[in-house]
Amino acid sequence: MSEIAKIEVNGSVYEFPVIEGTENEKAINISKLRGLTGGVTTIDPGYKNTGSCESGITFLDGEKGTLRYRGYSIEELAEKADFLEVAYLLIFGELPDAATLEKFQNDIKKQSIVDEEIKKIVDAFPKAAHPMGVLSSLTSALTAFNPNSVDVDSEEAMYNAVVKIMGKFPVLVAWTMRKNQGMPFKYSDSSLGYIENILKMMFKKPGEKYVQNPVLVNALDKLLILHADHEQNCSTSTVRIVGSSHAGLFASLSAGISALWGPLHGGANQAVLEMLAGIEEDGGDTAKYMAKAKDKSDPFRLMGFGHRVYKNFDPRAKIIKVAADEVLSDLGIEDPILNIAKGLEREALADDYFVSRKLYPNVDFYSGIIYRAMGIPTEMFTVMFALGRLPGWIAQWKEMRLRKEPIGRPRQVYIGENLRSFVPVEKR
Ligand code: SDX
Repeated sequence: MSEIAKIEVNGSVYEFPVIEGTENEKAINISKLRGLTGGVTTIDPGYKNTGSCESGITFLDGEKGTLRYRGYSIEELAEKADFLEVAYLLIFGELPDAATLEKFQNDIKKQSIVDEEIKKIVDAFPKAAHPMGVLSSLTSALTAFNPNSVDVDSEEAMYNAVVKIMGKFPVLVAWTMRKNQGMPFKYSDSSLGYIENILKMMFKKPGEKYVQNPVLVNALDKLLILHADHEQNCSTSTVRIVGSSHAGLFASLSAGISALWGPLHGGANQAVLEMLAGIEEDGGDTAKYMAKAKDKSDPFRLMGFGHRVYKNFDPRAKIIKVAADEVLSDLGIEDPILNIAKGLEREALADDYFVSRKLYPNVDFYSGIIYRAMGIPTEMFTVMFALGRLPGWIAQWKEMRLRKEPIGRPRQVYIGENLRSFVPVEKR
């Protein structure tokens, strides 16, 4: 017998089933609330207490600071898997065997050609255009070259759509960066692995041979794994709700990129670096910025700190912090920014304002330090976040459509004017 929740409203008591997930999370199913109560709904700004769906893709425990993709811990995946293995796992539900993984990699390579017409779209942007705006537009433009929206009920059609976007997206990312830097566009090199290919398209200089650096390859592979999915975050919820109207996959992904751009979400990795660089320029006075972060009259926030769900260390931040030390040491880079970041973390974790609000470093706090060491421009950091999150967005979109979720259409509580009559302009 499942548990029941009771809500008393308008003098009556209503009963609602409580559902329990495979990790013992409980939720009150209020899908019949409005009908039973004659119109009463719930309200929950930011959906801090509201689940939008049941999902079998990613599980995270904000109190314990744990994160798993399809049951595998993020620690194991970051250490033992590669990004395409994790992408396949998220999208299709199981780790691929060797033959399946090789086919997935080869099918993606076959799809890594982008229509030359897309270059005209990139050229039309001003050089100073923010790369996230360019990437969102280019992703939406893919619809123009792939007009048929995917038939989600056909495994073959869905697989083909997956390898198509997984093949083309890195090219769009690389071209976005090359545009920003005024460099010629590079095509995909099918002789290379997924990560090596991305790095070469991003960094190969005209007239020079591009030499792969395994430190950068391993660092980027790990960063993309760590960013691959994170249950119902803002951008993923955006992809799901746009897809719930049966808008196409590329259009839904384009909307997700726009949501990720915000500095409270994926845009935080750029904001963190700008904040750290600002503190360095200001003499490295971290105490001054800690005070600003705590001052309610000051709009300054400690970017890269705090999280809607994690009320403990973000497990990704722990892994990235170790990787940042390793990458900078391997590259022989002494970056004062890293020391400022560590100083801020030390001070925040000893400060009651942060401790009492359970504000810890999140995924964005250290990631930008690695991107910067790799030579990636600050404005491209959130594009790198999108590159990692792509398989998660695809997996969540696919799950939503295969579960035939209804179109997302929240209710509201109206607080505007009551009925009033129109007044002709001459009488206003
Ligand atoms: C990502 O959801 C996801 O999973 C996202 C993500 C993913 O993988 O998809 O993990 C990626 O977006 C990580 C978060 C990146 N954003 C930032 O680093 C921006 C800085 N952090 C915040 O703005 C904030 O912490 C949020 C937006 C992340 C979470 O905000 P909430 O859950 O709405 O919490 P809140 O704003 O209500 O804050 C609660 C309290 C407030 O103080 P009081 O009103 O209780 O006095 O904590 C304070 C806030 O003022 N607070 C901060 C703070 N974050 C929260 N104070 C100073 N600095 C901060 N960073």
